Amino acid sequence: MNKDFLSLRDISSEELLDLFTLADKLKVQRTFQPLSGKSAAMVFQKPSLRTRVSFEVGLHQLGAKAVYLGQEAIGIGERESVADVARVLERYTDVIIARLFDHSVLMQLADWSEVPVINALTNHSHPCQVLADLYTIRQHNKLYEGVKIVFVGDGNNVVNSWLEAAMLYPMHFVLAAPEQYNPNLSVLKAALKSGVSRIEITENPKDAVRDADVVYTDVWTSMGQEAEAEERRKAFRPYQVNEKLMSMARPDAVFMHCLPAIRGEEVTDGVMDGKRSIVFDQAENRLHAQKAILVKLLEQKREPKRERKALRRKLASLPE
Ligand code: CP
Ligand code: NVA
Repeated sequence: MNKDFLSLRDISSEELLDLFTLADKLKVQRTFQPLSGKSAAMVFQKPSLRTRVSFEVGLHQLGAKAVYLGQEAIGIGERESVADVARVLERYTDVIIARLFDHSVLMQLADWSEVPVINALTNHSHPCQVLADLYTIRQHNKLYEGVKIVFVGDGNNVVNSWLEAAMLYPMHFVLAAPEQYNPNLSVLKAALKSGVSRIEITENPKDAVRDADVVYTDVWTSMGQEAEAEERRKAFRPYQVNEKLMSMARPDAVFMHCLPAIRGEEVTDGVMDGKRSIVFDQAENRLHAQKAILVKLLEQKREPKRERKALRRKLASLPE
């Protein structure tokens, strides 16, 4: 496991399974407090229900303290540089959990910080979500080699993390999206090159969901894209996950959504509240999966980063 959890590429296939085993343990052992006396900074530029609450409650259950820092509070990159924020927070806390617009700001935070940084969503990816999703699929006895997971909708940050998941676990991942809403090209190329999973992209949602074990969707307009909402509503109209589309998947297929959902747009009430929907298990599992990530990251022995050493040497050589 790397120092940071910025993407699912920071863990190996074995570590993924170890995290699930640890999450199972943490789910039942509510009084286990391996992070007693530790603290976390939560740097959030965007709103959040699940991520914020599951991290804050998870840290509390593990014995640690969470300090929530909204954009209005610290103005990362505006009131103060990203590097300076990192170098201050590492002096107080043991981990930085960041939800940011720009993924490069997350990379900078991780480069500058001595303590681990966790990606709590950027415009590029949402690894905590997909980690919890895989754990949820396992809970529903569907995590078998070749499991067919069909994402219907925007090739967004959640899809990029699914492609990274496809480099860790052998699956059949299909994205059904309008052509102009495909995922990040370099992530797609890396996933294809890894050869771990079968990956397909199509514009046809009906063909895509045939034989699906999991049908997954997300909002058509992600946080930060509000100005494009109308145009997106038009482009994605044929991609709604409704009862008719679900009936084309396997009879035992489950429906997943990272939430928040815009009912009546990407999904109908009938599917969200139907018996195949496992969306609230997904939401709950954010807690268990993230607790496992926190425990694993914080128990690691870390070497100071080479860049930081170089900077220290440079500072030490400056005249008083
Ligand atoms: N799924 C998810 O990350 O939800 P929030 O945006 O509410 O945290
Ligand atoms: N794609 C969505 C996910 C929200 C959890 C967004 O970025 O807004």
